[in-house]
Amino acid sequence: MLKQEAEDGQASLADPHFRADVLAGLAATPRAIPARWFYDRRGSELFEAITELPEYYPTRTETALLQSVSPELAGLSAQGAAVVEFGSGSSTKTPILLKAIHPAAYVPIDISGDFLRQSARELGAAFPGLPVYPVEADFLRPVPLPADVASLPKLGFFPGSTIGNMDAHDAVDLLRVMVQWLGEGSRLLIGMDRVKSPDILIPAYDDAQGVTAAFNLNLLERINRELDGDVPVDAFRHRAIWNDDVARIEMHLEAVRDVAFTVDGRAFTIAAGETIHTENSHKYGPNGARTLLRAGGWTPIAEWTDTNDWFALILCEARPRSAAP
Ligand code: TRP
Repeated sequence: MLKQEAEDGQASLADPHFRADVLAGLAATPRAIPARWFYDRRGSELFEAITELPEYYPTRTETALLQSVSPELAGLSAQGAAVVEFGSGSSTKTPILLKAIHPAAYVPIDISGDFLRQSARELGAAFPGLPVYPVEADFLRPVPLPADVASLPKLGFFPGSTIGNMDAHDAVDLLRVMVQWLGEGSRLLIGMDRVKSPDILIPAYDDAQGVTAAFNLNLLERINRELDGDVPVDAFRHRAIWNDDVARIEMHLEAVRDVAFTVDGRAFTIAAGETIHTENSHKYGPNGARTLLRAGGWTPIAEWTDTNDWFALILCEARPRSAAP
Protein backbone atom coordinates (compact mmCIF):
# COMPACT_ATOMS: atom_id res chain seq x y z
CA MET A 1 0.00 0.00 0.00
CA LEU A 2 1.60 3.18 -1.12
CA LYS A 3 0.59 6.59 0.03
CA GLN A 4 1.32 9.70 -1.92
CA GLU A 5 1.48 13.11 -0.34
CA ALA A 6 1.99 16.58 -1.71
CA GLU A 7 5.71 17.20 -1.98
CA ASP A 8 5.47 20.93 -1.57
CA GLY A 9 3.14 20.92 1.43
CA GLN A 10 4.08 23.53 4.01
CA ALA A 11 4.16 22.51 7.64
CA SER A 12 0.75 24.04 8.19
CA LEU A 13 -0.69 21.80 5.48
CA ALA A 14 0.99 18.63 6.73
CA ASP A 15 -1.09 15.58 7.47
CA PRO A 16 -1.98 15.88 11.18
CA HIS A 17 -1.58 12.11 11.59
CA PHE A 18 1.96 12.34 10.22
CA ARG A 19 2.77 15.15 12.67
CA ALA A 20 1.25 13.26 15.61
CA ASP A 21 3.06 9.99 14.75
CA VAL A 22 6.42 11.73 14.32
CA LEU A 23 6.20 13.83 17.49
CA ALA A 24 5.07 10.85 19.59
CA GLY A 25 7.52 8.45 17.93
CA LEU A 26 10.56 10.68 18.44
CA ALA A 27 9.69 11.08 22.14
CA ALA A 28 8.99 7.36 22.76
CA THR A 29 11.37 4.76 24.20
CA PRO A 30 12.48 3.07 22.04
CA ARG A 31 11.97 5.68 19.33
CA ALA A 32 9.87 4.46 16.40
CA ILE A 33 7.95 6.01 13.48
CA PRO A 34 5.33 3.93 11.62
CA ALA A 35 6.55 2.67 8.25
CA ARG A 36 3.50 3.97 6.38
CA TRP A 37 5.08 7.46 6.37
CA PHE A 38 7.89 6.28 4.07
CA TYR A 39 5.66 6.60 1.06
CA ASP A 40 5.59 10.20 -0.09
CA ARG A 41 6.29 10.65 -3.79
CA ARG A 42 10.07 10.30 -3.41
CA GLY A 43 9.65 7.34 -1.03
CA SER A 44 7.37 5.56 -3.47
CA GLU A 45 9.91 6.07 -6.27
CA LEU A 46 12.72 4.76 -4.11
CA PHE A 47 10.61 1.77 -3.13
CA GLU A 48 10.04 0.95 -6.82
CA ALA A 49 13.82 1.08 -7.27
CA ILE A 50 14.31 -1.27 -4.29
CA THR A 51 12.13 -3.91 -5.94
CA GLU A 52 14.55 -3.96 -8.90
CA LEU A 53 17.80 -4.20 -6.91
CA PRO A 54 19.94 -7.30 -7.45
CA GLU A 55 19.99 -7.95 -3.67
CA TYR A 56 16.24 -7.52 -3.22
CA TYR A 57 15.12 -11.05 -4.11
CA PRO A 58 11.46 -10.99 -2.87
CA THR A 59 9.75 -9.20 -5.76
CA ARG A 60 11.36 -11.13 -8.57
CA THR A 61 11.14 -14.44 -6.70
CA GLU A 62 7.44 -14.03 -5.97
CA THR A 63 6.69 -12.85 -9.50
CA ALA A 64 8.45 -15.84 -11.09
CA LEU A 65 6.78 -18.20 -8.63
CA LEU A 66 3.33 -16.79 -9.40
CA GLN A 67 4.05 -17.17 -13.10
CA SER A 68 5.14 -20.79 -12.75
CA VAL A 69 2.21 -21.86 -10.55
CA SER A 70 -0.48 -20.04 -12.49
CA PRO A 71 -1.69 -23.13 -14.44
CA GLU A 72 -2.10 -25.04 -11.19
CA LEU A 73 -3.74 -22.05 -9.57
CA ALA A 74 -6.22 -21.88 -12.45
CA GLY A 75 -7.21 -25.49 -11.73
CA LEU A 76 -7.75 -24.72 -8.05
CA SER A 77 -9.81 -21.57 -8.56
CA ALA A 78 -13.58 -21.30 -8.76
CA GLN A 79 -15.11 -20.31 -12.12
CA GLY A 80 -16.35 -16.74 -12.25
CA ALA A 81 -14.65 -15.57 -9.07
CA ALA A 82 -14.02 -12.00 -7.99
CA VAL A 83 -10.35 -11.29 -7.25
CA VAL A 84 -10.13 -8.91 -4.28
CA GLU A 85 -6.69 -7.36 -3.85
CA PHE A 86 -5.67 -5.81 -0.53
CA GLY A 87 -3.64 -2.83 -1.70
CA SER A 88 -4.01 -1.64 -5.27
CA GLY A 89 -2.74 -3.74 -8.12
CA SER A 90 0.98 -4.03 -8.49
CA SER A 91 1.85 -3.48 -12.11
CA THR A 92 3.43 -6.91 -12.62
CA LYS A 93 1.92 -9.47 -10.23
CA THR A 94 -1.78 -8.73 -10.58
CA PRO A 95 -1.91 -9.25 -14.38
CA ILE A 96 -0.27 -12.67 -13.96
CA LEU A 97 -3.03 -13.73 -11.57
CA LEU A 98 -5.82 -12.24 -13.68
CA LYS A 99 -4.50 -13.94 -16.83
CA ALA A 100 -4.26 -17.26 -15.04
CA ILE A 101 -7.71 -17.49 -13.50
CA HIS A 102 -9.93 -15.37 -15.78
CA PRO A 103 -12.00 -13.88 -12.96
CA ALA A 104 -15.46 -12.35 -13.41
CA ALA A 105 -14.44 -9.15 -11.59
CA TYR A 106 -11.45 -7.42 -10.02
CA VAL A 107 -11.82 -5.44 -6.78
CA PRO A 108 -8.74 -3.48 -5.67
CA ILE A 109 -8.93 -2.03 -2.15
CA ASP A 110 -6.63 0.85 -1.25
CA ILE A 111 -6.61 3.77 1.15
CA SER A 112 -5.04 6.00 -1.52
CA GLY A 113 -7.61 7.05 -4.11
CA ASP A 114 -4.83 8.13 -6.48
CA PHE A 115 -3.14 4.74 -6.54
CA LEU A 116 -6.51 3.05 -6.78
CA ARG A 117 -7.67 5.03 -9.80
CA GLN A 118 -4.30 4.58 -11.52
CA SER A 119 -4.23 0.82 -11.09
CA ALA A 120 -7.93 0.49 -12.00
CA ARG A 121 -7.19 2.42 -15.21
CA GLU A 122 -4.14 0.34 -16.08
CA LEU A 123 -5.78 -3.01 -15.42
CA GLY A 124 -8.97 -1.96 -17.16
CA ALA A 125 -6.90 -1.17 -20.26
CA ALA A 126 -4.96 -4.46 -20.09
CA PHE A 127 -8.12 -6.55 -19.51
CA PRO A 128 -10.82 -4.84 -21.58
CA GLY A 129 -13.68 -7.23 -20.73
CA LEU A 130 -12.99 -7.32 -16.99
CA PRO A 131 -15.27 -5.32 -14.68
CA VAL A 132 -13.12 -3.42 -12.14
CA TYR A 133 -14.72 -2.18 -8.90
CA PRO A 134 -12.22 -0.05 -6.94
CA VAL A 135 -12.93 0.32 -3.22
CA GLU A 136 -11.30 3.33 -1.52
CA ALA A 137 -10.93 2.12 2.05
CA ASP A 138 -8.49 1.21 4.78
CA PHE A 139 -8.39 -2.56 4.53
CA LEU A 140 -8.14 -2.79 8.33
CA ARG A 141 -11.80 -1.62 8.48
CA PRO A 142 -14.06 -3.82 6.35
CA VAL A 143 -16.94 -2.33 4.40
CA PRO A 144 -19.39 -4.36 2.27
CA LEU A 145 -18.01 -5.23 -1.18
CA PRO A 146 -19.78 -3.72 -4.22
CA ALA A 147 -23.22 -5.30 -4.74
CA ASP A 148 -22.22 -6.62 -8.19
CA VAL A 149 -19.64 -8.99 -6.71
CA ALA A 150 -21.57 -9.92 -3.54
CA SER A 151 -22.77 -13.28 -4.87
CA LEU A 152 -19.50 -14.30 -6.62
CA PRO A 153 -16.91 -16.64 -5.08
CA LYS A 154 -14.03 -14.54 -3.74
CA LEU A 155 -10.29 -14.95 -4.08
CA GLY A 156 -8.33 -12.51 -1.92
CA PHE A 157 -4.82 -11.55 -3.10
CA PHE A 158 -2.18 -10.22 -0.72
CA PRO A 159 1.27 -10.43 -2.32
CA GLY A 160 4.59 -8.82 -1.48
CA SER A 161 4.96 -10.34 1.99
CA THR A 162 3.19 -7.23 3.25
CA ILE A 163 1.77 -9.38 6.06
CA GLY A 164 5.39 -9.57 7.29
CA ASN A 165 5.47 -5.83 7.89
CA MET A 166 3.06 -6.41 10.80
CA ASP A 167 3.91 -8.19 14.02
CA ALA A 168 2.08 -11.48 14.64
CA HIS A 169 -0.62 -9.81 16.72
CA ASP A 170 -1.53 -7.27 14.04
CA ALA A 171 -1.14 -9.87 11.28
CA VAL A 172 -3.73 -12.13 12.92
CA ASP A 173 -6.09 -9.17 13.35
CA LEU A 174 -5.74 -8.38 9.64
CA LEU A 175 -6.26 -12.00 8.55
CA ARG A 176 -9.47 -12.10 10.59
CA VAL A 177 -10.60 -8.84 9.07
CA MET A 178 -9.96 -10.38 5.64
CA VAL A 179 -12.42 -13.14 6.56
CA GLN A 180 -14.95 -10.37 7.27
CA TRP A 181 -14.24 -8.69 3.93
CA LEU A 182 -14.51 -11.90 1.89
CA GLY A 183 -16.78 -14.24 3.88
CA GLU A 184 -16.47 -17.85 5.04
CA GLY A 185 -15.68 -20.23 2.18
CA SER A 186 -13.59 -17.61 0.37
CA ARG A 187 -9.99 -18.15 -0.58
CA LEU A 188 -6.85 -16.09 -0.13
CA LEU A 189 -3.57 -16.21 -2.03
CA ILE A 190 -0.89 -14.72 0.17
CA GLY A 191 2.86 -14.17 -0.33
CA MET A 192 5.09 -14.78 2.68
CA ASP A 193 8.85 -14.40 2.77
CA ARG A 194 10.73 -17.35 4.29
CA VAL A 195 13.28 -17.35 7.12
CA LYS A 196 16.71 -17.69 5.53
CA SER A 197 20.35 -16.90 6.14
CA PRO A 198 21.09 -13.34 7.31
CA ASP A 199 23.73 -13.40 4.55
CA ILE A 200 20.85 -13.19 2.07
CA LEU A 201 18.44 -11.18 4.21
CA ILE A 202 20.66 -8.30 5.32
CA PRO A 203 21.86 -7.24 1.84
CA ALA A 204 18.23 -7.33 0.63
CA TYR A 205 17.54 -4.53 3.14
CA ASP A 206 20.97 -2.86 2.93
CA ASP A 207 22.01 -2.85 -0.71
CA ALA A 208 25.41 -1.93 -2.10
CA GLN A 209 24.05 1.04 -4.08
CA GLY A 210 22.47 2.56 -0.99
CA VAL A 211 18.94 2.74 -2.39
CA THR A 212 17.38 1.24 0.75
CA ALA A 213 19.47 3.64 2.84
CA ALA A 214 18.13 6.56 0.78
CA PHE A 215 14.59 5.20 1.21
CA ASN A 216 14.98 5.04 5.00
CA LEU A 217 16.71 8.44 5.25
CA ASN A 218 14.02 10.04 3.06
CA LEU A 219 11.75 9.80 6.09
CA LEU A 220 13.93 12.39 7.84
CA GLU A 221 13.92 14.57 4.74
CA ARG A 222 10.14 14.30 4.61
CA ILE A 223 9.97 15.37 8.27
CA ASN A 224 12.11 18.41 7.45
CA ARG A 225 10.01 19.25 4.38
CA GLU A 226 6.53 18.75 5.78
CA LEU A 227 6.87 19.27 9.53
CA ASP A 228 9.20 22.27 9.59
CA GLY A 229 12.07 20.13 10.90
CA ASP A 230 15.80 20.77 10.98
CA VAL A 231 16.95 17.18 11.44
CA PRO A 232 20.62 16.93 10.31
CA VAL A 233 20.09 13.99 7.94
CA ASP A 234 23.86 13.45 7.60
CA ALA A 235 23.98 12.63 11.32
CA PHE A 236 21.99 9.43 10.71
CA ARG A 237 22.81 6.20 8.97
CA HIS A 238 20.65 3.37 7.72
CA ARG A 239 20.88 0.09 9.67
CA ALA A 240 19.29 -3.25 8.73
CA ILE A 241 19.41 -5.76 11.60
CA TRP A 242 18.32 -9.41 11.73
CA ASN A 243 16.48 -9.94 15.04
CA ASP A 244 16.52 -13.70 15.41
CA ASP A 245 14.28 -13.79 18.52
CA VAL A 246 11.32 -12.52 16.52
CA ALA A 247 12.57 -13.66 13.08
CA ARG A 248 12.51 -10.26 11.50
CA ILE A 249 14.59 -7.73 9.67
CA GLU A 250 14.44 -4.38 11.42
CA MET A 251 15.28 -1.09 9.75
CA HIS A 252 16.58 1.69 11.94
CA LEU A 253 18.02 5.16 11.57
CA GLU A 254 21.05 5.34 13.83
CA ALA A 255 22.55 8.60 15.10
CA VAL A 256 26.26 8.62 14.26
CA ARG A 257 26.87 11.50 16.70
CA ASP A 258 24.93 13.28 19.42
CA VAL A 259 22.26 15.37 17.70
CA ALA A 260 19.79 18.05 18.69
CA PHE A 261 17.02 19.29 16.40
CA THR A 262 13.48 20.59 16.34
CA VAL A 263 10.38 19.35 14.57
CA ASP A 264 7.28 21.53 14.48
CA GLY A 265 8.82 23.67 17.24
CA ARG A 266 9.52 20.74 19.55
CA ALA A 267 13.13 20.02 20.61
CA PHE A 268 14.66 16.53 20.56
CA THR A 269 18.09 15.17 21.40
CA ILE A 270 19.38 11.79 20.31
CA ALA A 271 22.67 10.35 21.57
CA ALA A 272 25.25 8.76 19.26
CA GLY A 273 24.37 5.08 18.72
CA GLU A 274 20.66 5.52 19.52
CA THR A 275 18.19 4.58 16.79
CA ILE A 276 14.77 5.42 15.44
CA HIS A 277 13.05 2.16 14.50
CA THR A 278 11.29 2.56 11.14
CA GLU A 279 10.28 -0.84 9.74
CA ASN A 280 9.96 -4.56 10.44
CA SER A 281 9.85 -7.38 7.91
CA HIS A 282 8.96 -10.67 9.62
CA LYS A 283 10.03 -13.90 7.98
CA TYR A 284 8.23 -17.22 8.39
CA GLY A 285 9.23 -20.86 8.20
CA PRO A 286 6.66 -23.34 6.83
CA ASN A 287 5.11 -24.12 10.22
CA GLY A 288 5.12 -20.55 11.43
CA ALA A 289 3.39 -19.43 8.23
CA ARG A 290 0.66 -22.07 8.52
CA THR A 291 0.10 -21.41 12.22
CA LEU A 292 -0.24 -17.67 11.60
CA LEU A 293 -2.78 -18.27 8.84
CA ARG A 294 -4.82 -20.71 10.93
CA ALA A 295 -4.80 -18.31 13.87
CA GLY A 296 -6.28 -15.74 11.50
CA GLY A 297 -9.07 -18.08 10.35
CA TRP A 298 -7.48 -19.33 7.11
CA THR A 299 -6.79 -23.03 6.42
CA PRO A 300 -3.86 -23.59 4.04
CA ILE A 301 -4.86 -25.80 1.09
CA ALA A 302 -1.90 -25.45 -1.29
CA GLU A 303 1.58 -24.04 -0.99
CA TRP A 304 4.37 -23.28 -3.43
CA THR A 305 7.95 -22.10 -3.03
CA ASP A 306 10.79 -21.34 -5.42
CA THR A 307 13.66 -23.82 -5.79
CA ASN A 308 15.73 -21.97 -3.14
CA ASP A 309 12.77 -22.04 -0.74
CA TRP A 310 13.14 -18.27 -0.33
CA PHE A 311 9.53 -17.21 -0.79
CA ALA A 312 6.16 -18.93 -0.37
CA LEU A 313 2.79 -18.44 -2.02
CA ILE A 314 0.04 -20.00 0.07
CA LEU A 315 -3.54 -20.58 -1.02
CA CYS A 316 -5.91 -20.86 1.92
CA GLU A 317 -9.61 -21.03 2.62
CA ALA A 318 -11.71 -19.29 5.29
CA ARG A 319 -13.27 -22.11 7.24
CA PRO A 320 -15.38 -21.87 10.35
CA ARG A 321 -13.87 -22.96 13.66
CA SER A 322 -14.04 -26.71 13.97
CA ALA A 323 -15.59 -28.19 17.09
CA ALA A 324 -13.64 -31.43 16.67
CA PRO A 325 -10.69 -31.95 19.04
N1 TRP B 1 6.86 -6.05 2.39
C1 TRP B 1 8.13 -5.96 1.70
C2 TRP B 1 9.26 -6.40 2.61
O1 TRP B 1 9.13 -6.38 3.80
C3 TRP B 1 8.35 -4.62 1.11
C4 TRP B 1 8.88 -3.52 2.03
C5 TRP B 1 8.19 -2.80 2.90
C6 TRP B 1 10.21 -3.04 2.02
N2 TRP B 1 9.01 -1.85 3.44
C7 TRP B 1 10.24 -1.99 2.95
C8 TRP B 1 11.36 -3.39 1.33
C9 TRP B 1 11.42 -1.29 3.21
C10 TRP B 1 12.54 -2.68 1.58
C11 TRP B 1 12.56 -1.66 2.52
O2 TRP B 1 10.30 -6.80 2.11
